[in-house]
Amino acid sequence: MYYPWWYVPGLTAPMLIAVVAVIHVFVSHYAVGGGILIALENRFAVANGDKPYRDYWYKHARFFVLLTVAFGAITGVGIWWTIALASPLATETLIRTFVFGWAIEWVFFVIEIVSAFIMYYFWVKLKPQTHVIISAIYAIAAWISLVLITGITAFMLDSRGLFADWSETGNFWHAFFNIQFLPQTIARTGGAILLAALYVFFHAAWTLGNDKLLLEKVVKRMSCPIIFGVIVMAVGIAMSFILLPESVHRAIERAVLLNVLVVMFFGICVIMVLLMFFGPVMHPKSVSNGFAISLLVFGLTALATAEFIREAARKPWIVDQIVLGSQVYKDEISQLRATGFLRNSNWQKIPSNKLERGGMIFMYHCNNCHALESGLSAIVPLLSGEDDKKVIKDKLRLLNKPVISMPPWTGTEEELDDLADFLKQLSQEHYKQKSP
Ligand code: HEC
Repeated sequence: MYYPWWYVPGLTAPMLIAVVAVIHVFVSHYAVGGGILIALENRFAVANGDKPYRDYWYKHARFFVLLTVAFGAITGVGIWWTIALASPLATETLIRTFVFGWAIEWVFFVIEIVSAFIMYYFWVKLKPQTHVIISAIYAIAAWISLVLITGITAFMLDSRGLFADWSETGNFWHAFFNIQFLPQTIARTGGAILLAALYVFFHAAWTLGNDKLLLEKVVKRMSCPIIFGVIVMAVGIAMSFILLPESVHRAIERAVLLNVLVVMFFGICVIMVLLMFFGPVMHPKSVSNGFAISLLVFGLTALATAEFIREAARKPWIVDQIVLGSQVYKDEISQLRATGFLRNSNWQKIPSNKLERGGMIFMYHCNNCHALESGLSAIVPLLSGEDDKKVIKDKLRLLNKPVISMPPWTGTEEELDDLADFLKQLSQEHYKQKSP
């Protein structure tokens, strides 16, 4: 194989990606939305000569810069760490397809970091008008980073191009401007503004307890971005949902958990708008710490839910129509069926022992979605104690027929036999331990 496999017990490696990605999204979206809010509110405070309000944003900027730069950088690198280990072939494909995208993104990232530091450390030293321009530069650079990354993550969900298909032209822009690009950019921009306004709510509720007048002002000013953010995010996700390919719709329809999550996402959006309307919009004086935390938890849950649906609905693909969850390219399948799934490489020599070979096939072909004996979609319980090898082999041969979220079986008859032996032994050992 081209790369080594990586087994994360119980959780499975892709779910570890999802966990790191969700934590990163909580911070990276704040980095973008917070930039937009600071730029707008800073301008508002300067234009109105409102010193106390501008002072509040100076205080907020400290919280903002510390959290987004330090935590954002750690979790951002964490994403590279997990995707490179869990899905090396997909990571390679994304680097190859989007090499200029990563390069452009890095340039904007540098602009973002430099302007963030200038914005915070020179808040009082710069002329207010110049400072307003610096905060606008930060906001624009951060938003462009979001747009660039969204083009890439949207391509993983649906690789069909808006203007032409990348698979036919190999052109960077055809990959970048894919069908999901616009709705996902809208959803993420809305999510970023929403999340940032919620963090401001939370921060203000905790730090401005003694200054009720200022707190009321922050609450009033942030109510509009919260409601706007929820609506824009929900519209983006709805557009994205409508435009998904037929196969993904089918995958979502048949997975109970995903159905529940889709309903939950839109439910939370409605609840948040209602809470905002009957809470801060009608009674801006009555925002408590508890209310601010609850609202923040709702916002974080909505974002995490959307992220999880995006991750799960993509199966069997890691990169739509290009790389499968079995760590192979779609175009290799027929060849591998003839020559064999396992290949000798620097990483791995094909073992001569039949069970070891079967275990290795499991790690490459199945480990991306199934844990072994217990954990996420663990394979032993899914086989329900089946110990008739012929039945197991029939299941493997038709892998993607009953469950369309699985990649097709991609090996020789002999390898199918090796894997069936491995699974049978695993299952027998498991149930022997359970029953004395
Ligand atoms: C890209 C993800 C993915 C890969 C790779 C994958 N599966 Fe699955 N598999 C699923 C999903 C999703 C389900 C259905 C969800 C569930 O019931 O947990 C499933 C269900 C199953 C079931 C139960 C089927 C049934 O009829 O109830 C078996 C058995 C199974 N997989 C075996 C395998 C084996 C063996 C491999 C490797 C050769 C494999 N899977 C590779 C995603 C995958």
